[in-house]
Amino acid sequence: MKKVFFAAIAGIGLVVLMAAQTKPAQSKPGQTKPVAKVAQTGISKKIMTDGKKVYDSYCLACHQADGGGVPRLNPPLQRTGFVLGDKKKLIEIVLKGMNEEIEIDGEVYDNNMSAHSFLSDQQVSDVLTYVRNSFTNKASAVTPAEVKAVRSKLK
Ligand code: HEC
Repeated sequence: MKKVFFAAIAGIGLVVLMAAQTKPAQSKPGQTKPVAKVAQTGISKKIMTDGKKVYDSYCLACHQADGGGVPRLNPPLQRTGFVLGDKKKLIEIVLKGMNEEIEIDGEVYDNNMSAHSFLSDQQVSDVLTYVRNSFTNKASAVTPAEVKAVRSKLK
């Protein structure tokens, strides 16, 4: 009788342990190549097409058609911690521009990126969703509401 009881307890313990381990792996901001295994759904063709239009008009000249950037001048947008990491920081980079020394894949960049706050919430979310799902990137979409929230804090 006692044996059965202990076997039952051990069984429950195992189930609890397994449930705890099935949590999805989270990617940390700043990590260069996070594992983004979660399948992305709900990113429409329209968002990708519209995002590409914004990219081609406002980002391509510096970050290049393949997102590869220009060594020592304009950083790449391929699986960088900024592109795949914290969305608030990423939105802020586009709205406010960027002027800090950063290192990506061993190259140092400290050129200035100008602010793009003239883009609408929709344009910023489209271009960032596009960037986060192009150039070998795979990450969740950015929504206009998220852009709006960051923009309101910058004013
Ligand atoms: C005039 C050139 C220029 C344009 C246009 C430009 N950027 Fe940048 N971008 C830069 C530079 C230079 C940096 C690095 C700034 C620094 O070191 O402070 C940068 C940094 C970044 C970063 C963070 C670093 C990285 O590589 O992950 C992201 C993300 C980014 N830009 C996205 C964009 C997007 C999206 C657009 C279009 C809406 C855009 N940039 C337009 C020059 C540009």
